[in-house]
Amino acid sequence: MKVATSILNCDFNKLEEEIKKISTSDYLHLDVMDGHFVPNISFGYPVLKNLKNITNISLDSHLMIENPYDYIDDFEKIGSKIITIHIEANKPIETIKRIKNKGIKAGISLKPNTKIEELLPVLETIDLVLVMTVEPGFGGQTFMKEQMKKVEYLAKLREKHGYKYVIQVDGGINDETIDFVRNTGVDIVVAGTYITKSKNPKKAIESLR
Ligand code: DX5
Ligand code: ZN
Repeated sequence: MKVATSILNCDFNKLEEEIKKISTSDYLHLDVMDGHFVPNISFGYPVLKNLKNITNISLDSHLMIENPYDYIDDFEKIGSKIITIHIEANKPIETIKRIKNKGIKAGISLKPNTKIEELLPVLETIDLVLVMTVEPGFGGQTFMKEQMKKVEYLAKLREKHGYKYVIQVDGGINDETIDFVRNTGVDIVVAGTYITKSKNPKKAIESLR
């Protein structure tokens, strides 16, 4: 199991120090929020532009924003390995094309109330599907177990059609809820609070792996 650590709840006054504590993460998960698509504002290019100079951990940008099409250049410039947008945002199909044309892995995500069938038009070409197991907007929420039905559906479809997308889940992941995620076809888990608020972040990462 790969682990993407969300830095949403990190202490941004000492970001370099915070990132050292989670340096065994496979990805740094960047929760970008615009206050429109989700009821919270987090960070964008000005805050993230120097990240690639203070870490070589792969950057996994999760754009919870209304108009991701307009910001793909920014998230290319910060050095994203993956850029994930939401199917509920504007122009998702064109945006996925824009990400892929830049040679960056394109991810698609959906909110808990969005039906998995909404993703059918993109599954053949997408590199990653991010199933939200909380309502996007905040860290520290409770894992929504019923969302794992979407993972089951995605794993079956991937098997049946030979699709290549990896499956990622995001929200409320800890050493207990991880047991609902193991052996379900999930390839990457996102965890924020469980890792960044742990006394031993590296041990927390290992416990998920
Ligand atoms: C929520 C974000 C998640 C969240 C994960 O909108 O997409 O990545 O920060 O945080 P935890 O692990 O605390 O639920
Ligand atoms: Zn996220």
